[in-house]
This record gives sequence, structure tokens and C-alpha cells, in this order.
Amino acid sequence: MTTLERHNANTLSVQIPVTLRTATPEDLPKLEWYGQYRHFRGLFRRTFREQQADRRLMLVADVNDFPIGHIFIQLKPEIQLGVPPHAYFYSFRVMEMFRNRGIGTLLMSEAEAQALEHGLEWATIAAAKDNHGARRLYERLGYRVFASDEGSWSYIDHRGRTRSVNEPCWLLEKHLRTV
Ligand SMILES: CC(C)(COP(=O)(O)OP(=O)(O)OC[C@H]1O[C@@H](n2cnc3c(N)ncnc32)[C@H](O)[C@@H]1OP(=O)(O)O)[C@@H](O)C(=O)NCCC(=O)NCCS
Repeated sequence: MTTLERHNANTLSVQIPVTLRTATPEDLPKLEWYGQYRHFRGLFRRTFREQQADRRLMLVADVNDFPIGHIFIQLKPEIQLGVPPHAYFYSFRVMEMFRNRGIGTLLMSEAEAQALEHGLEWATIAAAKDNHGARRLYERLGYRVFASDEGSWSYIDHRGRTRSVNEPCWLLEKHLRTV
């Protein structure tokens, strides 16, 4: 028997607090997750400027000053006749090693609270049609599919190239104030 087996020394259980907060300028490079999302550098910067203008919110799940998860909220929706204004939630992700621990649910619940605080009683979120896990999570949280969308949009990456995204998705909505 090795020393490791005798003392079970190869296992250490650590409890790490996860705190929700809005993004700060220091988060911007960290949101790239060591290169995984460097192509979204411009999108992160632009969203941060929108947050400073009170038009969007970047909600992050913080572990040791690092944003291990986030959801962004569009707070100033386009007004459509006969449709109540909706907060739009997007850019929702949690680092892989932190998934399935309730952090995504916590982010969604805080995003909903923030939407209500900004006077928005409805929320919309898109789930790629092949992302069954995300759709399951949203439906469990009370969202219902109301439309199908081509999911076509584009952005400028960190090298200045235009990148097009075509990801057919379901649009889900929820009435946040149920009483
Ligand atoms: C979607 C995503 C943000 C969810 O984040 P998450 O932190 O894993 O979410 P949660 O842990 O709250 O919930 C996910 C699952 O864990 C379960 N769960 C929640 N709390 C849990 C806990 N304390 N212990 C174990 N499981 C838990 C949930 O029931 C859910 O189960 P399901 O797979 O049957 O639906 C994450 O999977 C992700 O980043 N995916 C890649 C990006 C993406 O697809 N984003 C959505 C774009 S539409």
C-alpha cells in the first residue's frame, strides 16, 4: 500500500464561496477564460460600455476574483406594439469544471431579480436547438418556448475579422412576476 492510499492524501475537499456581482473593468481580460473566448473580446468590451450606460448588465459568478460564470442582460429592449417589454438574457455560461452545482440556476435567478428591479416583468432567452441541456434547465425554471429563430448574427473578433454565427434556436420567455 502506498502512502497516498494509506492516508487518502490524494483527496482534499474544498468549499469555495461563489459570489454574484456585476462585472468590473478587471474582469474584461478574465472573461476570455485564458483564450477560450478571446474572439469575444470586442463583445465583452462593448457590453461593458453598455453596462456603464445602464442599458445592459454583465452578471458574473465570482470565485477568488475570477468570473467562472456569467449571464448578460439587455435592459432596454426594442419596443414592439402590443408586446410587454422583455429583458433579454444572453451570453450565459459556466466554466465546465463548475457546472451541475447550481451556479447557472443562481445566475438565472439573479438575472430575473435584476430585470424586475429595472421594471421588466418578462424575460427572453435563446437556446440553440441542439442544446437540450440548456432548454431543459430553462423549462425547469418556468420558461416556455414561444418562437423559433434563425439565430443569425455577427461580431468582430479580436483580430478585427467579422465572424458570422448561424445557430438555429428556440426563443423561450417567462413572466417573472407571478403574483
Ligand atoms: C447552461 C449552463 C450555463 C448551466 O450552468 P450550470 O451551472 O451547470 O447550471 P446548474 O448547475 O444550475 O443546472 C444544470 C444541471 O445541474 C443540476 N443541478 C443544479 N444544482 C445542482 C447541485 N447543487 N448539484 C448537482 N446538480 C445540480 C440541475 O438540476 C441541472 O440538471 P439537468 O442537467 O438535468 O438540467 C452550463 O451548462 C454551460 O455553461 N453550458 C455551456 C454554454 C451554454 O450552453 N450556455 C447556454 C446557452 S443557451
